[in-house]
Amino acid sequence: MTSLVNRLGYVALNVTDLDSAIADATSITGLSIVERSADRALLTSNRQHAELVLHRAGQDAVRAIGLEAPGTAEVEEAAVRARRLGWSIVAEHPSVPAIARAVTIASPEGHVLEIHTPLPEDQPRRHGGPGVHPRRLCHVNLASQDPAAFERLLAQTLGLKLSERTEGCELMWMRAADGRHHTVGIAKSAEPGLHHFAWEFAQFSDFMRLGDLLDTQDRLMVWGPGRHGCGDNLFSYYVDRAGFMVECSAEMEVILDDRPPSVISCPPDLSNIKVVNRWGAPPPRAWIEHMSPFAAPDGLIALAS
Ligand SMILES: [Fe+2]
Repeated sequence: MTSLVNRLGYVALNVTDLDSAIADATSITGLSIVERSADRALLTSNRQHAELVLHRAGQDAVRAIGLEAPGTAEVEEAAVRARRLGWSIVAEHPSVPAIARAVTIASPEGHVLEIHTPLPEDQPRRHGGPGVHPRRLCHVNLASQDPAAFERLLAQTLGLKLSERTEGCELMWMRAADGRHHTVGIAKSAEPGLHHFAWEFAQFSDFMRLGDLLDTQDRLMVWGPGRHGCGDNLFSYYVDRAGFMVECSAEMEVILDDRPPSVISCPPDLSNIKVVNRWGAPPPRAWIEHMSPFAAPDGLIALAS
């Protein structure tokens, strides 16, 4: 099945302290502010109109994950399939005015995805200011109570392809049309939600810059730098001021053919170190146990039959 999704489009977060979240995104990540109102800010690392959307809210929670479709026909096809396959339709209008066409859907576990036409590339290619300045968003890793069922649902609805999984399906990685090893990772968890979202860094010196910037604010990386076995990407993780786990990633494997998924042996305790970090340091408990909930979508307009 052809993927209806090209890549990760944006991440939208509800935050209790909007000023603090904006300060974190600009001073650490190094994003530029595209637009800001009393209750919402659009930020980006590149020419795309928005990659991170922050909403003032009563709870720090994930609002939506934007998945970019190439055009209107793919968005409409995703909506048809979502209704048939048991998603709830949250909205049929775009969450950001710069998006031409979108449908927002919620999985039975409450993962909220907006399938949308591309955001315009109307921002300057580069910007000044502090922070690391990533190249772009990279991927998300979602927590699910039943990763195998969620993987099937994403494959049937959006055409995402399984790149790799553990023998017991505790960890699964799915790619979109751009071929990155994963645009959506899935991890087995007692509660559904978002484990982390990831920015793509340009070079390894950016990871040093990240560590030094966090240090200037007396903060720590949670895990890394290292290199994941699955996806072959460099990584470091930190927790932002609103409590979301942020990965900084580089050099992810790209798969452009239709090869069958790799199946790897890794116990649920992640003790097969070469799978999680080829350089050797295992993930700390704070990384393993982290999870951010999705906000319950308001404005549910129709339940799929
Ligand atoms: Fe990741």
